Amino acid sequence: MEKKISRREFLRASAATGAILSMAPCITLAEEPKPIQLLTPQPGSGSSLMQLLWKRKSSREFSPRPLPIEVLSNLLWAGFGINRPDGRRTAPTASNKQEIDIYVAAANGVYLYDAKANLLKPVLAEDIRAMTGRQSYVKDAAVNLIYVADFSKMGDGTNEEKILLSAAATGLISENVYLYCASEGLATVVRANIEKPALASVMKLRPDQKITLAQSVGYPKKTS
Ligand SMILES: Cc1cc2nc3c(=O)[nH]c(=O)nc-3n(C[C@H](O)[C@H](O)[C@H](O)COP(=O)(O)O)c2cc1C
Repeated sequence: MEKKISRREFLRASAATGAILSMAPCITLAEEPKPIQLLTPQPGSGSSLMQLLWKRKSSREFSPRPLPIEVLSNLLWAGFGINRPDGRRTAPTASNKQEIDIYVAAANGVYLYDAKANLLKPVLAEDIRAMTGRQSYVKDAAVNLIYVADFSKMGDGTNEEKILLSAAATGLISENVYLYCASEGLATVVRANIEKPALASVMKLRPDQKITLAQSVGYPKKTS
């Protein structure tokens, strides 16, 4: 069951841990990263699906402005949060295997999204954003989501089947993220151009954890 806390409780807890991503530039990487309790997802801008589809696009120019915790919470929930009491998610997966994990690479480290606990679990106290893609803009995005398929959750299918099904699931999650970004005026681009072995190595992934895609998300760079 998702733990709900009020915004006031959250801010108190965040102040105690220093673990709020919107304050990321203040956190030194030497500090041991702590779990970050995400906020309960909010209804959002109220734009209709048709309006969001008109706005959906890829953008590759990012402002350094960090994402407030409420935006990050909504983003992750929109992408692959739990939307039903039986634990099913905002994106479908073949046979409901839920094999995709979302890692969040931010300025103050890498976290794993735990949808059930509505929590970000610290994985690495390092800024690896530049390593999440071969293109120079990826280091500028407030966060880079790294989609990782856990083949150990996918049963006895062939490797080829697992690659296909996990790629499809990633695409569905990614489109949810695109639509959330369209609703909030955020810039985003999903990416395949990744040095996967190097990234998997720095993330200390197991051999049966496969990086599928990454997705940069942040505020758009001001153009004035
Ligand atoms: C599976 C997939 C992989 C992609 N890989 C990259 C990438 O590595 N780098 C990049 O800048 N854009 C990447 N894109 C974004 C596409 O270039 C973009 O969707 C396309 O140019 C159409 O633009 P639009 O999203 O604004 O409609 C990828 C898109 C998809 C669906």
